[in-house]
Amino acid sequence: MRIDILTIFPRMFEGPFAESIVRRATDIGLLSIHVHDVRCWSRDKHGRIDDYPYGGGPGMVMTPEPLFASTEEVVEMAEERGPIILLSPTGRSFDHRLAAEFSRLSRIVLICGHYGGVDSRVHEQLVTDEISIGDYVLSGGELAAMVVVDAVVRQLPGALGNPQSAAQDSFAQGLLGPPSFTRPAVFRGCGVPQELLSGHHAKVVRWRRLQSLLLTARRRPKLLNELKLTEEEKDWLASNLGEG
Ligand code: ADE
Repeated sequence: MRIDILTIFPRMFEGPFAESIVRRATDIGLLSIHVHDVRCWSRDKHGRIDDYPYGGGPGMVMTPEPLFASTEEVVEMAEERGPIILLSPTGRSFDHRLAAEFSRLSRIVLICGHYGGVDSRVHEQLVTDEISIGDYVLSGGELAAMVVVDAVVRQLPGALGNPQSAAQDSFAQGLLGPPSFTRPAVFRGCGVPQELLSGHHAKVVRWRRLQSLLLTARRRPKLLNELKLTEEEKDWLASNLGEG
């Protein structure tokens, strides 16, 4: 997969992409990430890429010329085509399902907005998608782009050392993931659930499933509306929800 990122702060990406899963996916050839500095396409002699908003008001707005010129040139840098995505608080919500969808594409282009926003013609005529990573405003789309890249790359086949890891992530089955334990078996007086120590695979699977249901019912009950539970699971939940 090829990911192109257009930004006015290219150095912000150096640390996060040089570590962990994204680094590994790049090293083994599953992924190539290309970060482009939008300022290089500014025709202003001072490299300006923003201006005052028409109609007045606080904040600056990113001008359309360098964003159009850079995106159009970057799109032509490879044969593969894919969505051109603007990271913006007004975009549709990013979630696990969208990350999975993007991970099946051979290419995505991410554009990081800034300041008081980008000129509306970018929204209307340049991008094919707008994505928000949550209902809060970041200072720019860079951190959001990193979040999107990380979530997408986790789902590329082969990106994680153990292929089962992605399937066990929270949300992969439409549920929050179950609690995890490791050594020691007793820590500060607190033990590990018997089912996990039993060595009995079916018991472990059942315990994890029920704990996932319980956590989801407590913290994100709406997620359960999308799932079909067995009668046994429903009964178990009903009798355990009150506790804890
Ligand atoms: N840029 C600023 N805030 C953002 C958000 N919440 N999601 C995506 N991009 C953004």
